[in-house]
Amino acid sequence: MTDWPDDFDIRHDDETAQAVQGFIATHLTALRDYDAQREEWVKKNLPQDYVMTYRFHDHTLRVADDMRKTAMHLGLSETCAHHLYLAMLVHDVGKIKLPVKLWDMVDKPDDYIKNERRRHTGLGVDLIHKHLPQEHPMIELMVDITAYHHENMDGSGYLGLTGDDLSLPVRLACIIESFDGYATVRPHFGDRDVSPAGVIKRMREEKGAAIYDLELLEAFAAVKIMDYKDGNKM
Ligand SMILES: [Fe+2]
Ligand SMILES: [Fe+2]
Repeated sequence: MTDWPDDFDIRHDDETAQAVQGFIATHLTALRDYDAQREEWVKKNLPQDYVMTYRFHDHTLRVADDMRKTAMHLGLSETCAHHLYLAMLVHDVGKIKLPVKLWDMVDKPDDYIKNERRRHTGLGVDLIHKHLPQEHPMIELMVDITAYHHENMDGSGYLGLTGDDLSLPVRLACIIESFDGYATVRPHFGDRDVSPAGVIKRMREEKGAAIYDLELLEAFAAVKIMDYKDGNKM
């Protein structure tokens, strides 16, 4: 498979580049505002000692950065890494269309809440199509990653797609998305090891090839471990 987004350069296409940049800027701001609304809701509705650790805006910046770094580590071009970075900046935009009360809770979410949360992928695709109606490989990449970043190789993800249906950008996005989720402490995690090495170990040993593309997992692991040694905790 050679479906890395390396056969175009968004920076050579002024009109689409501007539309994409505008969409990203507007929706990153919207995601930050949404996090602020969540925080307000948490203050009013959850115990005083509840700490809101998983901010969607910050998560988005972290995972986009991870996409770019892993792409460079894989030897892909700087242009290709930039496309993957931009696409990852929109992957969770659909969350802003869901009620703020859906995300923060002391206990594990029940099935109803899980299913509601899962709608964020389709809602994100709707937002992209609404604001970026033109056809362009950059927009196709954004849609691909937004739609499928919670799929698993064995079909146990949100939509039940299997490895053969998942592009390389999507496979990498799934790995990076999982890592960031596991590495951010949340109330129901107990005393789980959330260090980069601990999370990677868990992803290799407990999830493995059933869930991830192992070649991409190892490339990402190398980036994370190097990052950690350089003193960058996340
Ligand atoms: Fe997501
Ligand atoms: Fe995400």
